[in-house]
Amino acid sequence: MSRKKLIAGNWKMYKVKDDALEFIYRVNLDVPSKDAVDTVICAPAIYLRDLVKREGENLRIGAQNMHYLEEGAYTGEISPNMIKTVGVTYVILGHSERRAYYNETDETVNLKVKAAIAHQLIPIVCVGESLEIREAGTTDAVVREQVIKAYKDVSKEDALKTVVAYEPIWAIGTGKTATPTQANDTIKAIRGVLRELYNDAADEIRILYGGSVNVKNVEALLSESDIDGALVGGASLDPEAFLFLANAAVDK
Ligand code: PGA
Repeated sequence: MSRKKLIAGNWKMYKVKDDALEFIYRVNLDVPSKDAVDTVICAPAIYLRDLVKREGENLRIGAQNMHYLEEGAYTGEISPNMIKTVGVTYVILGHSERRAYYNETDETVNLKVKAAIAHQLIPIVCVGESLEIREAGTTDAVVREQVIKAYKDVSKEDALKTVVAYEPIWAIGTGKTATPTQANDTIKAIRGVLRELYNDAADEIRILYGGSVNVKNVEALLSESDIDGALVGGASLDPEAFLFLANAAVDK
């Protein structure tokens, strides 16, 4: 089963507007064709419209979060409809930083996954364990629970429209990457959970690895059987590094 690779940048709360525009201009010049690899930059919400206007043929723009409701008295929040109408393609959901600092739970992630699908946005559903859990040897069980809850009441047809990102919390922004084997093993376990839920459709759902992916380790990670791309924080801030990662994923 060949799944097209996806390289997703997650800018988090970095880059002022001029830097963001310059990055997109630079990357558009050399980003590989979307026939060979999917690429997306998930940018701060305030620039989404400006970036979508400049996204070109191959590079797509995504959001980093959204509310699950259409509208309401939720100061500071952004609805699925709002981000859809500016033209973004992807939305990161359930990132561990949102789970840790902004009360994101498996239940809200599930509501957001369903809202994203209803608005034809592609959710990148993040799951992953803490160092404590990794050391206790219960990673697979914890990640299984996160996947089952995120996909509650999501049909097979809709699950096929999603992407999963496995991001061990201890590897995010720490320079500590999971070894390719560790990452691949957990991703296989996640695919096993998707198989329980959706049978063979599990083989068509892309599962990314995230956590200190960089120009040095990307080749080894993408050579693994079940790693279908990367969700990249730090290394996605530099256009040359992002292009390197995207090229590394071509025809993998
Ligand atoms: P990192 O971030 O690549 O800087 O570790 C990954 C992420 O949080 O998505």
